[in-house]
Amino acid sequence: MKKIMPIYGTRPEAIKVAPIVKALKEADEFECVVVVTGQHREMLDQVNELFGITPDYDLDVIQPRQTLNGLLTKTIAGLDEIFEKEKPDAVVVQGDTTTSTAGAIAAFYRGIPVVHAEAGLRSYDIFSPFPEEANRKLTSQIASLHLAPTSLSKRNLERETFKGSDIVITGNSVIDALLTVVEKKVPFSDPKLEELVSSGKRIVLVTTHRRENQGEPMRGIGRALAKLSNAEPDVEFILPLHRNPAVREALLPEIDGLPNVTLTEPLAYGEFTRIIDASTVVLTDSGGVQEEAPSLGKPVLVMRLNTERPEAVAAGTVRLIGTDEKRIFDSVSELLHDEAAYNEMANAVNPYGDGKASERTVAAIAELLGVGSRIEEFDSKLSDPDDMMRATSI
Ligand code: UD1
Ligand code: UDP
Repeated sequence: MKKIMPIYGTRPEAIKVAPIVKALKEADEFECVVVVTGQHREMLDQVNELFGITPDYDLDVIQPRQTLNGLLTKTIAGLDEIFEKEKPDAVVVQGDTTTSTAGAIAAFYRGIPVVHAEAGLRSYDIFSPFPEEANRKLTSQIASLHLAPTSLSKRNLERETFKGSDIVITGNSVIDALLTVVEKKVPFSDPKLEELVSSGKRIVLVTTHRRENQGEPMRGIGRALAKLSNAEPDVEFILPLHRNPAVREALLPEIDGLPNVTLTEPLAYGEFTRIIDASTVVLTDSGGVQEEAPSLGKPVLVMRLNTERPEAVAAGTVRLIGTDEKRIFDSVSELLHDEAAYNEMANAVNPYGDGKASERTVAAIAELLGVGSRIEEFDSKLSDPDDMMRATSI
């Protein structure tokens, strides 16, 4: 049996790696040893609990206001000891966080093949998102197998001269996770949310956490929300707050106590996706939410100037609006009042996956290690790649 070591540390990685862990544990040819770095704590544990994953190792690296270098060095040192003991045949890292890149570097230096899930996303601006664009490019350099979610991400990698034979289009495993939880319709632990979702009122779901939005841009987001809540008293705004204290410092002075703004702690994944499903509009700077909401047919307004996920922008369900206060106000107002504009965006599209990414991932790893062969790739049915390249920024 080959020993595969998925390594993850933050909420979005946990959500996207959970279906891969499940598929690895079900495969006869693999032993799966799960390592979490603990880059996130509550937000990570919440996901592991939901998917019934008990990590074999937990580095518990989290520190209040952790620095990128502190996080990177602690993670690499911790992983190196685990590699020495476990000697995995391959590691799986996901996406573009510090955990992901630290895992890739630590494994590469030990001569362990790196499997990169969600490979090939590019905003083509090294400073935005920061540090994620750099992280994913660094990981690409040293990965042995690139699992690209879409044909566009494969094309991005090929343009950087990575070999087509080392790239497999799997779809994004976030859709595997989403399909598992969304049909369960889990109850909300807070009865107020159950009431809101059942009330038939229109809901605007808001999330924000991006590092480059912290500070003044995020205060602007808060001011735009305050104005919207005042102008739209019949609409409910729900904002699950990220655990990063910088987010609360920026937002709370602007929006705490407003009657139609519900602030919550990070929600369990099943509850959060139920709210996406019940929302009229999603306003976010998240990566994962840009992939999930289109699949549920919800218009997404993205508070960023660029995106590495242009597929749903090109499909018309996602719009980049930046963080300008007035533009946020106008864009949300338009979708709340202009039915034609709304209907144009509210289309369920699935460019990011079909729920079989983890199956393809396991097959591709089996091929890499000589114990199986890859299966048919995901067809994201994307037409014009140049059109999509134009959709990466505003
Ligand atoms: C990280 C990732 C980002 C990803 C995001 C998803 C990096 C550099 N950033 O950003 O790519 O989009 O996660 O949410 O890898 N905290 C807690 N408990 C938690 C989680 C966070 O207390 O469960 C606090 C800690 O004080 C921590 C701070 O939040 O210092 C920031 O966490 P960190 O992982 O450094 O950055 P994020 O902004 O969460
Ligand atoms: N999410 C969640 N609870 C919340 C907010 C988000 O489960 O309260 C999920 C969301 O569905 C998505 C992921 O967390 O799958 C996105 O995480 P985040 O926005 O923190 O990170 P990013 O995707 O931007 O890296």
